[in-house]
Amino acid sequence: MDPNSSGLAQKLAEAGQSHLLQFWKELSPEDQRDLLQELQGIDFQEINGFFKSAMETSSSSRHEKMDARMEPVPREVLGSVTRDRESLKDWEVKGLDCIAQSKVAVLLLAGGQGTRLGVSYPKGMYDVGLPSHKTLFQIQAERILKLQQLAERKTTAKCCIPWYIMTSGRTMDSTKDFFSQHKYFGLDKNDVIFFQQGMLPAMDYSGKIILESKGKLSMAPDGNGGLYRALGNQGVLDDMQRRGIEFIHVYCVDNVLVKVADPTFVGFCVQKGADCGAKVVEKTNPTEAVGVVCKVDGRYQVVEYSEITLATAEKRSSDGRLLFNAGNVANHFFSFPFLRDVVQKYEPQLQHHVAQKKIPYVDPQGRLVKPDKPNGIKMEKFVFDIFQFAKTFAVYEVLREDEFSPLKNADTQDGKDTPTTARHALMSLHHRWVLNAGGHFIDENGTRVPAIPRDGAEGSVTDDGSRK
Ligand code: UD1
Repeated sequence: MDPNSSGLAQKLAEAGQSHLLQFWKELSPEDQRDLLQELQGIDFQEINGFFKSAMETSSSSRHEKMDARMEPVPREVLGSVTRDRESLKDWEVKGLDCIAQSKVAVLLLAGGQGTRLGVSYPKGMYDVGLPSHKTLFQIQAERILKLQQLAERKTTAKCCIPWYIMTSGRTMDSTKDFFSQHKYFGLDKNDVIFFQQGMLPAMDYSGKIILESKGKLSMAPDGNGGLYRALGNQGVLDDMQRRGIEFIHVYCVDNVLVKVADPTFVGFCVQKGADCGAKVVEKTNPTEAVGVVCKVDGRYQVVEYSEITLATAEKRSSDGRLLFNAGNVANHFFSFPFLRDVVQKYEPQLQHHVAQKKIPYVDPQGRLVKPDKPNGIKMEKFVFDIFQFAKTFAVYEVLREDEFSPLKNADTQDGKDTPTTARHALMSLHHRWVLNAGGHFIDENGTRVPAIPRDGAEGSVTDDGSRK
């Protein structure tokens, strides 16, 4: 098989990507076959179109203009665990009711590469060092199991919260193997559904696809907004429909405190008649790496931390708080009809965001080069870019110490969002649960320790909240 006879060389020439075959003659027959297969799976005209519009929309002048069009979330769409205490019980009951009727699914975005954490395996397999050594996947699985049990107590029938897990070409096999080795952490295997997002090639600034070796393109997952294409082309939407799912809680893998299918959040969104909702925590530091939920040109949107200007991030309202303080914790609510419309109608309208990266490449002489400054871009869609299509949007504000401690970086002294901060956040939450339930802690000599948490006190509670 050769690229000329298959018409591939012609296709590449038309798309200005002929350089991808420049080392063809040097490749082994196996490498030639793999490259051919990879190239045949790519629609180059489409990729060139993505590149053109991504570069246009990412120009910095556009960002500055966007800053001027941003407004904070209006009070009327905002629910809050602190300001709306009297409604919390109703929302929780409503949410549990939906769960008990098997109308709620959870969807985990786990296709990322965990580059900042620096591990070679999927982030969900990470153990942040809890006494139990449970991984993020296990913690989430056990929360789903528990919630099913709580909901079942409301009815006599069994209920099910299907768990859809989006992986990428790089994380699929290891994620599936991990679940199978751990017997799905007690969940029914049929209710854990894996699917795979797409990949896109990295490109240099002139729109040429980058080769990471003589016979291989530099490919990366197409962003967590790759979700919507994958939901359609992997049959996931159909599966949801067959199961009668009405509401979906979408979340990111790295938050050790995530309340999976949080009944209060679900109930709040359902009672508001929302087709789309987002959970937020108050952003207090202008440079914190969280997106902000806001309105742009009257439509809901998240402006990502990499795209907001410092001047806007630092703006304060008269009470001294950040003006754009609705920090996105990557927990989203979608009604099924909304999600279906997005997949079937709106997905092609979503623009790719551009991330400038240092991308290793082979030069025309065939040498591998590791650049020390950005030399190209990766293109990603973002999961929240569909907020703009919502007819009724709701925002739910929760407490950071109860619900948000993401694992992004490896441990360093005073590091942010590390295994240590994640571990402390979960242990401190469980510590508070014990104290609030009237319990107390004793030290190794049996002496009661003061109720105010202090260094070391957390060591006496296990991570499932029980006392040691
Ligand atoms: C994300 C949010 C940010 C939010 C922050 C909170 C997005 C685009 N940004 O930022 O607004 O404030 O979390 O912690 O959601 N993933 C995929 N496929 C991909 C890329 C990522 O499934 O191609 C998944 C990851 O596995 C992870 C999640 O998306 O579960 C978030 O990815 P990450 O790169 O960690 O996002 P942040 O930049 O931290």
